[in-house]
Amino acid sequence: MSYQSLPKVELHTHIEGAAPPDLIKGLAKEKSVDLSGIFAEDGGYAYRDFWHFLEVYEAATSVLKSPTDYARLTKAVLEKCAEAGVIYLETFISPDFCGGRDVSAWRDYLAAIEDAANEAERDAGITLRGVITAVRHFGPDAARETARCAQETAGGFITGFGMGGDEKSGKQSDFAYAFDMAREAGLQLTTHAGEWNGPQEVRDALDHLKVQRIGHGVRAIEDLALIDRLIEDDITLEVCPGSNVFLGVYSDLGDHPIAKLRDKGVKVTVSTDDPPFFRTDMVKEYEDLSRQFGWDAADFQALNLAAIDAAFCDETTRTRVRKILEAQDV
Ligand code: HPA
Ligand code: ZN
Repeated sequence: MSYQSLPKVELHTHIEGAAPPDLIKGLAKEKSVDLSGIFAEDGGYAYRDFWHFLEVYEAATSVLKSPTDYARLTKAVLEKCAEAGVIYLETFISPDFCGGRDVSAWRDYLAAIEDAANEAERDAGITLRGVITAVRHFGPDAARETARCAQETAGGFITGFGMGGDEKSGKQSDFAYAFDMAREAGLQLTTHAGEWNGPQEVRDALDHLKVQRIGHGVRAIEDLALIDRLIEDDITLEVCPGSNVFLGVYSDLGDHPIAKLRDKGVKVTVSTDDPPFFRTDMVKEYEDLSRQFGWDAADFQALNLAAIDAAFCDETTRTRVRKILEAQDV
């Protein structure tokens, strides 16, 4: 069965990481930037491992230089996601890449992204919310500046604050101040943890950053007491199975713990992370999970309901999206 038409909620994407390669190639050409080294023969992005991925990601992002570029990016990303049946999407947006953490420049980027999102909501029926994101390997001082951008623009379209980047760089606790700032601004919180580091990283995220959701978090499976804590604290995991397999966190989907985590009672959701980088989209994720674990449309409906419950959005939006999910006859 094709899962294309099933309405979906996706909580974990990086806006630049969702950039169609052709958009990046077109921008590189317009700006006379040579990015030929980051593309493979098949036209997709090329890199060796996660750390090289981060470098290629930043190289691709280097041609996104203005609010107009981000408007084009937002439009292209939302069109692709809507084609895959996504009706509600959250994306990580980094003031680092949008104006170098300058509040005034950031406002201009954000306005352009929001305009493009409003247009896509009208034209393609997809709702976007932004999660402002610090980049871990840029360090705690940069994260505070990012949190300042978050404080200045929290509310409405911007509903969350998070952190991505290199999990091997620094500690979650180094970023507690930035997360405190974001929490005080009323933002909901998530951080990448338990993808490249083990369960202790997830504990650190809960203890020091007091997040409600965890990006990935899959390595919690190695610690049964932590599993109990995730359930007790009502933490939702933003699981990205295709990303984990593509980057080699697990050698194949059969080894991936998403089904075990779900069976133990952890709230799991499914996202694509950086879809063209991992040669995936939400339809492929669902088809692969269905083939591997026997999940059917009713299972995916339940996952999507869990996702909208954990979404960083206002209650009107939550109720509207939930109704669409519930109306599906699965
Ligand atoms: N993981 C961590 N950091 C990132 C990613 C990712 O997939 N994409 C962009 N920054
Ligand atoms: Zn991610």
